[in-house]
Order: sequence, then C-alpha cells, then structure tokens
Amino acid sequence: MEQTADIALIGLAVMGQNLIMNMNDHGYTVVAYNRTTAKVDEFLEDAAKGRTTILGAHSIEEMIKLLKRPRKIMLMVKAGKPVDEFIETLLPYLEPGDLIIDGGNSHFPDTIRRTHYLESKGLLFIGTGVSGGEEGARFGPSMMPGGSVKAWPLVKDIFQAICAKTPDGEPCCEWVGNDGAGHYVKMTHNGIEYGDMQLICEAYQLMKEGAGLTNEEMHEVFTEWNKGELDSYLIEITRDILGYKDPANGEQTLDVILDTAGQKGTGKWTSVSSLDLGIPVTLIGEAVYARCLSAMKEGRVEASKIISGPNFKFEGDKKAFVEDIRQALLASKIISYAQGFMLLSEAAKEYKWDLNFGEIAMMWREGCIIRSAFLGKIKAAYEKNPKLSNLLLDEYFTEVIERCQPAWRRAVSKAVEAGVPVPAFSTALSFFDGYRSARLPANLLQAQRDYFGAHTYERVDQPRGKFFHTNWTGKGGNVSSSTYTV
Ligand code: 6PG
Repeated sequence: MEQTADIALIGLAVMGQNLIMNMNDHGYTVVAYNRTTAKVDEFLEDAAKGRTTILGAHSIEEMIKLLKRPRKIMLMVKAGKPVDEFIETLLPYLEPGDLIIDGGNSHFPDTIRRTHYLESKGLLFIGTGVSGGEEGARFGPSMMPGGSVKAWPLVKDIFQAICAKTPDGEPCCEWVGNDGAGHYVKMTHNGIEYGDMQLICEAYQLMKEGAGLTNEEMHEVFTEWNKGELDSYLIEITRDILGYKDPANGEQTLDVILDTAGQKGTGKWTSVSSLDLGIPVTLIGEAVYARCLSAMKEGRVEASKIISGPNFKFEGDKKAFVEDIRQALLASKIISYAQGFMLLSEAAKEYKWDLNFGEIAMMWREGCIIRSAFLGKIKAAYEKNPKLSNLLLDEYFTEVIERCQPAWRRAVSKAVEAGVPVPAFSTALSFFDGYRSARLPANLLQAQRDYFGAHTYERVDQPRGKFFHTNWTGKGGNVSSSTYTV
C-alpha cells in the first residue's frame, strides 16, 4: 500500500464528510475512516463517488498505512469520551512527530490536557474550533486551531486552503495559541452566538408583542436591517425564517415551533469561565438563562394563568419604534462583543496565551455562525490599536454607541412598560451604565461587608491596598477578618 494520503479524517457524520470533500476539492488526498465501517463504503459510493483521491480505510492499520509522514489524523467525533478513546486507539500506531487534530466542540480544559498528554509521548496535538455548520464545512468554515505550536506548519496550508476568506481574501483561520487556546476561542464564539441569537429574539418579540408587527412586516424589517450596520448571517437567516411558509399548507412554520430552546452547553461553558475569571460577561449569561427559562414551558404556562402583566397598548409611530429596536440591537451587540473580548483578554493572561484579537475577529469575519460586517470593524479596531483595553473605547464603537444610546434607552423603557422580557437588551444597557460610571455604589457594599463581618474596605483618600475597619456599632471590636477567596 502506498503512503499517498495527506491527511486522514475519522468520523463520517455530515461535518466530517463535508470537510473531506472540501479538502479534496483543494487537491488533498484524504483517507476516510469511521468506526462503523459500513459508513465508509456508503460515503465512497455516494458523496465521494468517482473521486480517486478520497480513499476509504476499513481499519486503523489500513488508514495508517495510507498516510504520508508525519501523519496527520483529524477527529470529527463527538466531544468528550469518544475523543479520548480514539486517541488511545491511535497511540500504538503513531510515531514521534505525528499529529492528531480534534475538530469537535471540545471543552478547552480537555484540549489543554490532551495537548500535554500527547506532547509527553512525542506526538503533536491540535484542538481546532470549526464553525459554520454543514455548509461551512463543505465550502469554507471558520477555523480556530490551537495546541502544539510545532503542529501548525504541518496543517497550515490545508486549513488555510479549505477555510472561508474575508472580503479582502484573508483566510478565516490563523494559529490561535498553545494548548486550549483554539477551543477557548471557539467556545467564546459560541457564547457570542448565544448572545446574538437572544438579541434577535428580543427584537422579534418586542416588534411582535410590543407593536403588533406581523411576520411579513418583520421579514421586511430584517431585510432592511441586513443591508446596513447589522448585516450578518444570523439577521439574514432570521429574515428568511420570518418569510418562510410551508409549501404544503402555507402555514408560517415559525408560529408552530414550540418555544423551548435547546442547548448543548458551550454557552454555559463561556458563562462559567467568565465567573471563574471574574469578567462580567453578562449578556451571554442572560442568553443562557433565557434558554433555561424558555425550557420551563409548563411552569410558564401555569404562571401565565395566575399572574398578569401591564395592560399595554402601543401608541405612536411603529416605524420609529422599529428603528429604536434596531439601534438597541446594535448597541447591545457592541456590548456583547466588548464583553467577549474582555473575557478573551483575561483568559489570555490566565492561561498564558498570546492571543491576537484582530486575527480572532478576522477568523470570525466569514464562515462561522456569527459572521458579519460588524466583525470587520472589530478587526480594524484591533489592527489600529492591538493593545486596545476595551472595544468600547475604540473611536468607531464609542461613536456608534453614543449615537444609539437614546434609542436604546427608549426601546428598553418601552419593553419594561409593555411587560416584554428583554434580558439581553437591558443587561447590556446596565453594563454600559456601570462601565461608564467612575463611581458605583460598591462603597455601600463594602461598608455592609465591614459592618457584619469586619471584611474591611479601602478609602478614597488613601493609597490602594491599605485596608480599614470601622467599629460600626461600638460593640464589634476593632479586629478585622482575614482575606481569603474560596
Ligand atoms: C458553529 C456552531 C455549532 C454549535 C451549534 C449548536 O459554530 O457552527 O456554534 O458549533 O454546535 O450552534 O449549539 P447549541 O445547541 O448549544 O445551540
């Protein structure tokens, strides 16, 4: 058997199959393998029919024999245990310098562990985010690889050939950083995806229940929105969903979908990480909780029969209200991305990753679910100032958010008045008001902590790091408690 294949791919579900086809379109010889080997034959006889440079393997031995050295093997299997199982299965067949790539939605601590484990055996490992669904995988996904630094030159050409390209022709795939950096960035992408989707859902509910717009009218609104600052994949598909009628009966499919959201956990991971790192990524958190609340369908139905909201009747100019909602969506989106990049910045410090924020924005510009014109602006902001401390302080974003501020406040106020829940819009606005405040009420909070637990406080007229305690009641004494973090 000749060693002619450039790369092997394990896992022939739709993402795996499409990545193979994509690689093959770009001139690479690929070995396809699947644990259930009948899938290999099906693939060769169906999607890959007639392609002589897609080779099927019916065993790991056969797959290994077909590969050029150093061997590159990409796993497109379910995240979690299956990845570890395949790594163990492959180990006896590999030689120092060979590379395993995990292209699933793996949790970044697993990717950190796997990188170190395989490197300890002289092997290389990459954990790469792959975004864009089936179509992305087939014609150009966004790819976020991290892991063993030495592995990047081995796959750079392949990855940058198959990935999406920005309007300027740059590949939406760059080396992200060592060990878990790629999967961390993909996790954050997914968190932001949750936030973007929730914002769109709030805009929809506000238009529908606040101002009584029909699906057709909202289809028009999203068509317009997609031509401007909000131009993005998620706005585009929302436009199409709102305009979709079942060809069989003319029914508006959106209206018959049960209002309980599913989730696979990547948004939750982002929120947990933000809590671990102490970064207020409030919008993604609210987006995750909004999915949780939606899942409490029976409880909500029950409550709706007992608790009533305000008697609201929309009065005024619907067109102006829709424009307020557009601006609220744009401003909230800026907050969400600012929070996402704050998280990435802290993670870079914590995990010692040298993250390039401009390149991350570039990787998300095309191919992935959050792709948008807006990401081009973020890329430009970080290119202009790679050390930008917060996206909100970039001239462009400061101008947009200041311009949108009055409309954003009106939209949130109207939602509150109408009793329409807008957790993401309003948390974004609260974050904005908190972030731009030189003084917050935490002085009172510190006083309370010191009052009941002698937890001490710093003073405005003393250097930072000097702590004081007040004997608030005259009974507690002057001894302060020690500092510790759980
Ligand atoms: C992507 C997506 C994808 C994710 C889905 C489902 O980048 O292509 O993020 O990786 O699996 O969006 O996620 P939820 O089921 O959690 O909504």
